[in-house]
Amino acid sequence: SEKIVVKELAEKLNVNPNDLIMKLMNLGTMAAINQEIDFETAEVIATEYGFSCILENTQEDMEDDIFEEIIDNPEDLVKRAPIVTVMGHVDHGKTSLLDAIRETEVTAGEAGGITQHIGASEVKINGEKIVFLDTPGHEAFTTLRARGAQITDIAILVVAADDGVMPQTIEAINHAKAAGVPLIVAVNKIDKLNANPDRVKQELSEHGVLIEEWGGDVVCVPVSAVKGEGIDHLLEMIILVSEMQELKANPNRPAMGTIIESEVDKGKGPVATVIVQTGTLSVGDSIIAGHTYGRVRAMFNSKGKRIKKAGPSTAVEILGLSDVPEAGDKFIVAKDDKTARQIAEKRQQEIRAKNLRVNQKVSLEDLFNQI
Ligand code: GTP
Ligand code: MG
Repeated sequence: SEKIVVKELAEKLNVNPNDLIMKLMNLGTMAAINQEIDFETAEVIATEYGFSCILENTQEDMEDDIFEEIIDNPEDLVKRAPIVTVMGHVDHGKTSLLDAIRETEVTAGEAGGITQHIGASEVKINGEKIVFLDTPGHEAFTTLRARGAQITDIAILVVAADDGVMPQTIEAINHAKAAGVPLIVAVNKIDKLNANPDRVKQELSEHGVLIEEWGGDVVCVPVSAVKGEGIDHLLEMIILVSEMQELKANPNRPAMGTIIESEVDKGKGPVATVIVQTGTLSVGDSIIAGHTYGRVRAMFNSKGKRIKKAGPSTAVEILGLSDVPEAGDKFIVAKDDKTARQIAEKRQQEIRAKNLRVNQKVSLEDLFNQI
């Protein structure tokens, strides 16, 4: 791995080499002025002096290169489908609502197959595609939800009419607000005897969500996921709200997007579900996703069908990554395998250096405790 001579590091940090050697000793590394220390140790030392360490040989330049924002020409932009996240309190019916939506599609005679293969689903209503992301209501998933809100064009807030506004409902409202994402309220379970939609509306207003009926601008649709009531109306409202946003992307550029979920499959290896946000992802592309990299070996759409290309606003499952990225990681197409690997390795190194720093801080404290 990469190394640096103590003297050279002292010069770079503009500190007395003896002082640096003392610091190294404190960290348990014995090194003379002309000896080499590894990158991780150098980084810890640099941090102590208030510097951050970056590996040379232009890896950083490469990363800058690759993350250079591509400014699209307005004439290259085409309409893209809205990415809609379904949020709400646990058990308020988020997954049931998505099931009902998929069934509507099937009964409407468009592409079949109700089975959901990935955590994202795509439906086509009157020729208009909508991409849906489900989120679990448990508190442990807060991060994913927060990250989910960042790639979302519209948030559907599901509130059970018999239960009303609950802690995770409020959390979802706050996430949507923080992300500046328009909200559509689906008051669910209206089929229940103890359903009280008016109370829900009242409670929502107390949390700053003013629906149209109350003089605000938030669309509110009463639905029953179980009975399939109000679903068509909800879908119409989604299309309406998304049309006002005039969502666009450039399909003719290297793809960029976000990891929705990932896991290791015994047979297939690391499998990641991604949302392509701009550009077109193709089988054979070299990608970087968080600290992982790889060449896209195969792609499957939300219905489990093998595909070769995925344009903007498409959810796909991809095979071929070196490891499992984290949900919420961004992915980007690199110019070749080598670049992808180098950037991913640099990120892995950063993670290791961070861990090392934590460990060493702990051992330093231990040392003091002994004294
Ligand atoms: P988490 O993912 O665990 O947060 O739950 P969820 O919000 O996805 O809720 P889910 O769709 O799993 O539904 C929870 C329960 O409510 C299930 O037993 C559903 O059958 C029931 N349910 C959902 N929608 C309706 C509805 O419209 N009417 C009635 N009566 N029950 C419903
Ligand atoms: Mg669910």
